[in-house]
Amino acid sequence: MSKHFDVAVIGAGPAGYVAAIRAAQLGFSVACVEQWKTPKGDAALGGTCLNVGCIPSKALLESSENYEKVTEKFADHGITVGKVEFDVAKMIARKESVVTKNTKGIEFLFRKNKVTWLKGHGKLAGKSEGGYAIDVSGDAGETVTAKHVIIATGSKARHLPDVPVDNKVICDNEGALSLSAVPKKLGVIGAGVIGLELGSVWRRLGADVTVLEALPSFLAACDEAVAKEAWKIFTKEQGLKINLSVKIGDIVQAKNGVTVFYTDAEGKAQRLECDKLIVSIGRIPNTDNLGLDSVGLKADERGFIPVDGHCRTSVANIFAVGDVVRGPMLAHKGEEEGVMAAELIAGQAGHVNYDTIPWVIYTSPEIAWVGKTEQQLKKDGVAYKVGSFPFSANGRALSQGEPQGFVKVLADERTDRILGVHVLHAHASEQIAEAVLAMEFMAASEDVGRTCHAHPSLSEVMKEAMLGTDKRSIHI
Ligand code: NAI
Repeated sequence: MSKHFDVAVIGAGPAGYVAAIRAAQLGFSVACVEQWKTPKGDAALGGTCLNVGCIPSKALLESSENYEKVTEKFADHGITVGKVEFDVAKMIARKESVVTKNTKGIEFLFRKNKVTWLKGHGKLAGKSEGGYAIDVSGDAGETVTAKHVIIATGSKARHLPDVPVDNKVICDNEGALSLSAVPKKLGVIGAGVIGLELGSVWRRLGADVTVLEALPSFLAACDEAVAKEAWKIFTKEQGLKINLSVKIGDIVQAKNGVTVFYTDAEGKAQRLECDKLIVSIGRIPNTDNLGLDSVGLKADERGFIPVDGHCRTSVANIFAVGDVVRGPMLAHKGEEEGVMAAELIAGQAGHVNYDTIPWVIYTSPEIAWVGKTEQQLKKDGVAYKVGSFPFSANGRALSQGEPQGFVKVLADERTDRILGVHVLHAHASEQIAEAVLAMEFMAASEDVGRTCHAHPSLSEVMKEAMLGTDKRSIHI
């Protein structure tokens, strides 16, 4: 007899493991199939985010920022240090221990919630009595059945055609998080979130970084005011070289590095010689070898599993969540969808508000936003007002030596409802939470502007920007 579960989740990244835990909390018997193996060969939960994405990149961001603080910022505080050195191997080892703490934490949560971890590749194997069958590869190789299935198989790095990624010289996110030494010259293809975050890490440690981006505009998804200021900071102040409107040609790997041939914005032939190359040109959903056809499902032409606004597929009792479905490829979006799917299975009113999903780019300073950009509002013909407030006018930001950036608020001209909030600052990822909450509660900018914020704190900048929509900021 095969094991039967109320709910089987395929994939234990943030969307899948959260769905599994929530389903278990709701009283279901739950299995979660996960095939991930660490480079040492150990099975691990957490998917891309915990193993080779969000978490390890933040660990390295912190290490490289600490180094830059010591070398460039401590002197301002009257702190003199002797010769400053860093040890890449130790940074990478620390990053790995941070990852392990996180992935082991999910194992603990699975045990606590009695979620059964099925180690191996999960593949749908058609309908079965009482639901669906799932073949689980791996050492034990077994077939289980489940009444409800949540597909949360995530995504993988998109590579350039005919450019093999060896994760030693030509890297995607995985290799870029495990370099054993700082490259002298680092090339990055794609000025998106991964390219900018990882490009910044290695630049801070001394690499000469050149980013090649196909699009003519920088950070096209951001509010233009933020993109413009970020461009100035990253290129002029920090020395990141970013070339827009490039067309990548041949990429030739030699023994000691790689040459990227490309045409620049003027159409001139150029070449970039580098020791290492990061290819960060987006991600593609993991729908291969998933047995979708066995249950009557089909991925769309881009590989995504079609779902409705509640992550239901076209097949009864099968949901799909996270990077494998439409919408931004963000861990927290997947988590919300995982919770929604589990709650809908339980007959509850699971729901995700896609209009209030925050975006964060972990550069230094960070970029975070929620809701509409000014250019979107203009395009949609919405009448709006703007409030903006710089961190350079905030006492706490000045004390911390982090005066760069601003908060920009867009509110409806007539109703004052907050439509979008954009933050450029060292700690933007934390500050955006207040704006998300305000928008979730459909607040007017006046609601936040009249809310008492602690002094001195960075949060006062949010309040002042909200007051700014009515031209009543106090400190500017
Ligand atoms: P991305 O979609 O953010 O950026 C890819 C960039 O590459 C785009 O600007 C695109 O125009 C450019 N590009 C595409 N093809 C190109 C070519 N042939 N030549 C030159 N440029 C080219 O993708 P990225 O950075 O790879 O990240 C993948 C996903 O992972 C994103 O969807 C993101 O949401 C998610 N992610 C989120 C993070 C966060 O929330 N902070 C961190 C890391 C990843």
